[in-house]
Order: sequence, then structure tokens, then C-alpha cells
Amino acid sequence: MSTFHDKVIYQAYPKSFKDTNGNGIGDLNGVKEKLPYLAELGVDMLWLNPFYNSPQNDNGYDVADYTSIDPMFGTWEDLDALVSEANQHGIDLMLDMVLNHTSTDHEWFQKALAGDKKYQDFYILRELQEDGSLPTNWESKFGGKAWSKFGDTNKYYLHLYDVTQADLNWRNPEVRKELYKVVNFWLEKGVKGFRFDVINVIGKDEELKDADDGVGKSHYTDTPIVHDYIQEMNKETFGQHEDIVTVGEMSSTTVENGVKYSRPDRDELSMIFSFHHLKVDYKDGEKWTTIPFDFQELKNILNEWQEGMAEEGGWNALFWNNHDQPRANNRFGDVENYPVETSTMLAQTAHLLRGTPFVYQGEEIGMTNPEFDDLDEYVDIETHNAYKKMKEDGIAHDEAMEIIKQKSRDNSRTPMQWNDSENAGFSEGTPWLNVADNYKDINTENETVSKKIFTYYKELIRLRKEMPIIQEGSYKALELDHPSIFAYVREHEGETLLVLNHFYAEEDAITIPDDLLDKDAAYLIGNRAERTLEKEFKMGPYETAAFLLK
Ligand code: NOJ
Repeated sequence: MSTFHDKVIYQAYPKSFKDTNGNGIGDLNGVKEKLPYLAELGVDMLWLNPFYNSPQNDNGYDVADYTSIDPMFGTWEDLDALVSEANQHGIDLMLDMVLNHTSTDHEWFQKALAGDKKYQDFYILRELQEDGSLPTNWESKFGGKAWSKFGDTNKYYLHLYDVTQADLNWRNPEVRKELYKVVNFWLEKGVKGFRFDVINVIGKDEELKDADDGVGKSHYTDTPIVHDYIQEMNKETFGQHEDIVTVGEMSSTTVENGVKYSRPDRDELSMIFSFHHLKVDYKDGEKWTTIPFDFQELKNILNEWQEGMAEEGGWNALFWNNHDQPRANNRFGDVENYPVETSTMLAQTAHLLRGTPFVYQGEEIGMTNPEFDDLDEYVDIETHNAYKKMKEDGIAHDEAMEIIKQKSRDNSRTPMQWNDSENAGFSEGTPWLNVADNYKDINTENETVSKKIFTYYKELIRLRKEMPIIQEGSYKALELDHPSIFAYVREHEGETLLVLNHFYAEEDAITIPDDLLDKDAAYLIGNRAERTLEKEFKMGPYETAAFLLK
């Protein structure tokens, strides 16, 4: 039996979690201070976004030194104390490994720039094509071209993300050896989990060519060699230890590859994040647009991943939120009229699926997008690049701001709302990113007294730990084309779990098949008081209900 299927992982974005020294930036001591809160919630593992030395152009995903702690986050003593106190609460640490690229401030890149051939081969450097065009026509995922001039040489370096994030040359065995040392370094520090940043783009084609689509993803995404590299990394690092939990962040991946990355006998990773279900409010696949989410598409995607991964023995990470996504409550629910129902329904939809749930800080209290009006309130580099691009494309300022309000990654990066005191109890200084205005209403203190979201999450987490059917049960959708309800059935050792999730405010009903009605049904959990299962099962606004059938 796998060792982690009963676990729930919490993601804290250290910069925005809790500031203990008044510099406006969250820190490791802040995370430590809040461990009792996380223990109360019942989570098993805590994923922390990068806190290594970094110029912070991409909030720490531009790592300048993999085995350091940026002083703004704390010291080695702080980290040791955090690991050991977390362990006392039964919580293990999961760190973020950003191994596809380094900051251009990294010593390796600096040595390369200074002419050191060994380090030049750590990066992907090419000359212009004969016609004077860039080495390839690929685009950076943060806008613009993926190549920039390498110092005053005649070469260009590849950066799939920001110009200050230079892609590493994984084809060079020296690079891989150095990166495995990094993973082993953190294992020795007592870390029990890793989240590998954009790990499916590390294996660029050997020969780099222009892409037919002018974007280039197929030349570096899910290439066969990625699996070899991950297997090698597993063998050289975490695979040598018991019970390490790993999750790969997979950009534009497929179910077929998802299975390969996560099937236990392939010795790659424990599970993967895929993102297709979070693109159902992109118009024609373009993020910087605003359209209502496509519910049928959302269900089709979740269903395809649930079925596909289960059939072949793969394992999904289950999530709606992270530091790169606007708040799911705003995207898929009604935060004005049904905030509690929205949060609990989304939570239940994810937590009772087959896979491992991730809770992103604040979702357990119903945090929302902050709706900043002013472009200056946004810090995120991708947001500012997108604004420039939208202006170039002739989109008016007001419309661009409306889009940013809905799509910016800063929507989920606002400080954690602990209480109704100034800055939501996050910091006594000036927060690096403004706090959302609704903190007087939405905060952890209020939540424990008056509302129901935190306790609901607690219950979902407790149920997972107790019930093998949630951990290991099969998955099958019920009436997949229902216009407003996402219903699914889990089965395990003669028991059935029926989960009904209503994604809209208007009442609707779903017809329950007779074979399910024939069994004894107990209301397991839902966001309404007691419910009885019946043929025409009516559901209220954003209602969720789960029944255990025997
Ligand atoms: C994914 C991370 O989650 C995101 O925040 C970052 O900008 C990119 N990878 C590049 O590292």
C-alpha cells in the first residue's frame, strides 16, 4: 500500500504567510509560529515556495543559490527550528526545487558570462541563425522571445521564463550532478518532500529548431528524455530514502505522460500537477482574456484525468489554487452571495476525488481575489509584461485592468488574513503586497468563530485519513453532461461513495440511478444540514453532498 494516499498537503507562500520581523515580508519564523494552526487543520505536509537567495524578479523562482536561505526569510537556525517543530506537530516539509533554470545572478551564470567554458556549457547558448534571426523562434512563457544576448558575445541564451531565468543544459551530465547534490543537501536537512518546478520542460531537443507554431512548446515539453532524467534524479537522490513525497509541476502535459511521471513502478515521482482544468476560463486558450468558465469542459478535463490516471496507475495532485492562479472562489463560484457554499463545494469536489489534495493558504478560510484597481498595486512580473502586451495589442487601460483583476497571479499572493487588526495580522510593517480589503470579514479568527469553511476543510482532511474509499477507491463520473452538477462515484471493497457538487446558484436536480438507490445511504458530509438520498435529488446554490452507500 502506498504510504501517502491518506495525506493532505498545505502550501504556504512564505513571502505572504506571516511576517515576524516587521519588514513586510513573511518569514520562516512566521511559518513556525503558525504550525499549531496547520496542525489544527490536520495537514501532513507543508510545501514552502522558494526561500533561497534570489533577486526576486520572479518571487524566488529565480534562484541565485540553491543551498542558501535568503536573509529576508531567516537563518539556518530558523529553518532547523521550523523542521523540528513541524515534526513535533506531525508535519513534514516539502521544498520547491527550481531546477529548470537559475537566476542570471547565479554563480554559474556569472562564471559563464566571464568566459568560463565549463559554466557556459551549463546553459543553452546558441548563435544567431544564418539569416540573422534568433537561434529559434520560440516564445518566452512570460511574453516576448525566449532568447537574450549573452553578455557581449555573439551568442544568445535560452530563457523559457523571464530574461533573468536562464535555462540549464540538462544534457550536460555535470549540470545534473550539481543539481542532484542540491536535492541531497536538502534531504540531509530533514526535508521529506519536493515540488519540482516545471520539471517536464528540462529536456530540450538536442538540435534546437524553429517551431512551426512560432511558440516552441513541442520542442521541450514532455520529451522522452525527461523521463530518463527524472528516473536518474530519483535514483541519485530521494529514491534512496524512505517515504519521500514528490510532486512534479507539469506544464501543458498529457495523461499519457502523467501516468509515466507518477506510476510507482517507473520510479519517477509520487504525483503531478496538471493545469488543463484551470484553463477553462481562457478565451481560445489565451490567459489574458475574461470569459465565464466552461463547466462542461471543466468536467471533461477532470474526468479525463481521473479516469486516465486511474486506468494506468498514475496519481494526480488535486487542487484549485496555488501561487500562480487567481482564487478559485472567484473563478468558479459566487463570492458575493454564497461565499461559504462556494468554498466548501469546491473543497469537497477536489478532496473526495482520487489523488492527493493540496490546500493553498487562505482557501481554508475562503480568501478571494483582492480586486486591486491600480496597476502599481501589482508586483508580479508576468502581470506587468501582460499589461504591456495588452496595451501594444490596442486593449484600453480599463479593459486591461479588468482582465488583470481576474487573472493576475498576485490575486493569490496577497498576505494571509489572520485577524481584523491592521494588515490582517500579517505584518507590523508595510506588506510587500497589499492586503485584500475584505480582511476584516474574512480572516482565520472570524472563521473559527462564525463561519464554516475551516471546520469543513478539517472534516474533509479527517475523513481522508479514516476512509480507505477516499484514499484508494475507484472513480467514475455520473451523468457527465449534467448542465450544473459534477457528480462522481468512488468504489472500494463493496462500499460506494457518491459525491454530488452543484456549481451554480439556481436550484437544480440530478436523477440518481436505481442501483445506487437500492443501497443504504448515509449522509457523510455536505454543506447543508441532513439530506436524504432520493431519486430526483434537488440541490441548492453551490450545494455539495456526499453519501456513503452500503
Ligand atoms: C512555476 C512557478 O510556480 C511559477 O511561479 C514560476 O514563475 C515559474 N514556474 C517559473 O519558475
